[in-house]
Amino acid sequence: MVRELAIEGYVILSADGMLADGNGVMPPELKFDGDQRFFNDALDQADLVVHGRNSGEQQPNSPKRRRIILTRDVAALAADPSNAMATLWNPAGASFAAACARAGVTRGTAAVIGGPAVFGLFLDRFDTFWLSQAPHVHIPGGEPGLPGIPGRTAQAVLAAHGLRPAEVRVLDAGHEVTVMAWRRKTPAHALQ
Ligand SMILES: NC(=O)c1ccc[n+]([C@@H]2O[C@H](COP(=O)([O-])OP(=O)(O)OC[C@H]3O[C@@H](n4cnc5c(N)ncnc54)[C@H](OP(=O)(O)O)[C@@H]3O)[C@@H](O)[C@H]2O)c1
Repeated sequence: MVRELAIEGYVILSADGMLADGNGVMPPELKFDGDQRFFNDALDQADLVVHGRNSGEQQPNSPKRRRIILTRDVAALAADPSNAMATLWNPAGASFAAACARAGVTRGTAAVIGGPAVFGLFLDRFDTFWLSQAPHVHIPGGEPGLPGIPGRTAQAVLAAHGLRPAEVRVLDAGHEVTVMAWRRKTPAHALQ
């Protein structure tokens, strides 16, 4: 099978591995201009954005981006009545390949942006997972960023799913925020 759709993940986590607070809200302490720019630029390059119903990037270009939104409100696939660029997808009723076809994107790059259960669904399929970390932010009682946290670190979870650390970029030197690319040596088949 020819690989035509690369799958990339994006998250920023606190030092204790959280992506949101205990109320499911991403706190302002996890927002850094350098990371927001990196994230915005990456999504501008992506052909498709994939996320759960409670996530979303809320950027100026968001309305222009084709996206798939996971929800159990639909049996399989449906148009999103509130967004002509969005396809609603329930993985229990349709494959990711079918969702991509319905969204009109079958090649290029899909950016998966959370939340945790959505990352979990793609852990064995990511070609690259961009792990941003804010080492001086702690969110006690927060929402773990990946399935397996806090028992394991984000790095251990990614490694257990065949991803390996590659290049690192500094996104905010003052706050020591970095992003590390975790890459798969042998690409998985995306469209399954
Ligand atoms: N720090 C970061 O980088 C980052 C990244 C992502 C998210 N966040 C934050 O995390 C919070 C949202 O987290 P969340 O846990 O609510 O995650 P979410 O994945 O955005 O939303 C969860 C909802 O998505 C749908 N869903 C998820 N998995 C599904 C599946 N396997 N099948 C069908 N539907 C599925 C369900 O929608 P229905 O209820 O409609 O069925 C579920 O209630 C937000 O505050 C967001 O800003 C932060």
